[in-house]
Amino acid sequence: MAHLIFTIGLIGWAGLVCASNAVEESSQPDVKKGQSLYQIHCAECHGEGGRGDGPRAALLAPRPGNLVSAATSTKTDQELLSIIARGVPRTAMPGWETILWEEDRRNVLAFIRSLVHFQKPTLTPPPS
Ligand code: HEC
Repeated sequence: MAHLIFTIGLIGWAGLVCASNAVEESSQPDVKKGQSLYQIHCAECHGEGGRGDGPRAALLAPRPGNLVSAATSTKTDQELLSIIARGVPRTAMPGWETILWEEDRRNVLAFIRSLVHFQKPTLTPPPS
């Protein structure tokens, strides 16, 4: 009897581990895929490095944003995903809802986040 309970427990546990792995895999964004999508769809305006200096940028008013700026970096994933999905009114920024799958919008965002190299400020005080 104890054996049976143990076996059932083990199967249940294995099932749980598999299920949580599957969830983790699908929620982990693919930065490489995001990068290629970014190069195809976004770089012409926002620039290869996200600095808002793509070839089309100079012709646009308002200019495309610098995606590695503090203004963008401090926005939450939720805020940026909704901007990417719906676009920015009265600017050239289109909504990507109908062009990129939600998963791919997340991949692109992961790539944009990867362009930002946050460093903690050093703790040594400046020389006086
Ligand atoms: C035709 C030019 C153009 C293209 C293509 C374009 N954008 Fe934009 N984008 C803009 C403009 C203009 C703005 C508005 C200015 C701003 O918010 O900085 C903007 C704003 C944004 C913002 C908001 C930044 C903020 O801090 O609010 C995000 C995020 C963004 N774009 C991501 C993307 C992504 C991802 C793609 C590709 C899937 C893309 N853009 C393609 C022109 C473009």
